[in-house]
Amino acid sequence: MIVDLNITEYIRSLMKEEKNDLSHIESEARVNHVPIVKPETKELLRTLVLLKKPMKILEVGAAVGFSSLYMNSYQPEGGTIITIERNEKRIKKAKENIKNQGKEEQITLLEGDAIEILKGLDGSFDLIFVDAAKGQYIHFLDDVLRLLAPEGVLVSDNVLQDGDVARSRYAIERRDRTIHKRMRDYLYTIKNHPQLETTILPVGDGVAISIKMGESNERR
Ligand SMILES: C[S@@+](CC[C@H](N)C(=O)[O-])C[C@H]1O[C@@H](n2cnc3c(N)ncnc32)[C@H](O)[C@@H]1O
Repeated sequence: MIVDLNITEYIRSLMKEEKNDLSHIESEARVNHVPIVKPETKELLRTLVLLKKPMKILEVGAAVGFSSLYMNSYQPEGGTIITIERNEKRIKKAKENIKNQGKEEQITLLEGDAIEILKGLDGSFDLIFVDAAKGQYIHFLDDVLRLLAPEGVLVSDNVLQDGDVARSRYAIERRDRTIHKRMRDYLYTIKNHPQLETTILPVGDGVAISIKMGESNERR
C-alpha cells in the first residue's frame, strides 16, 4: 500500500453507495482475490469518465468485467467499451457478468493476448484504460497511442507497483528487476513523450493520467 492506511480507510469511509448495481460483482471479485481496481482508483475512473464523457473506451485487462461495467455505467447514453482479456476463467466470468447486467451491446470482450489484439484494432478511442500485466505496458504503448483520439485520455493503473518503482533497482529482488525497469521506462516515456501530457498520482497502486495533445499543441 503506497498511501498511509489511516488515510485510505478514512477516504473509503466517505464513499457512498452508487447508482449502479455492481456491488455483488465487486465483492465477489475481492473475496476471490481477482485483482480489480482499488476503490479509490474506481472513483478516479468515475471522475474521469464523467469529465471526459467518452463515447468509446478501450480497456486492456478486463478480469471479470468489473471496471468495464463500472465505467460504462457513467458513460454517456450510447457509449461503448472494447475490453481485452486472456485468462480463460476470467473471460468466462466476465461474459457472465456482462450478460447478467444486460450490457452485451455496450461492452465487447476480445479474447486473447492484448499485444496481438491491439495490433489488429482500428478506430479511435476517447479513453483507454491500461490495467494488465505491468511489464507489458511499454509494449502496448505504440498501439495505444495510435488508437487514442486527439485529446483522448490514457489511464494506466498500478504504475507505482506498491512503491517499488520509486526504489533503487538494487533494493528490488533480482527476479523483479525486469518488471521494475520496464515500468520505469514506461513512466519515463509517457512523461517525456512529445504527444502526451502526463501526471502520476499516488492513488490506489499509482495511476498515470495522460492526455494526447493535438499536433498543434505538442510541446516544442
Ligand atoms: C488488474 S486485472 C484487470 C482488472 C479490471 N480492469 C478491473 O478493474 O475490473 C489485469 C487483467 O489483465 C489480464 N492480462 C494481463 N496481461 C494481459 C495481456 N497481455 N493480454 C490480455 N489480458 C491480459 C490478466 O489476466 C488480468 O485478468
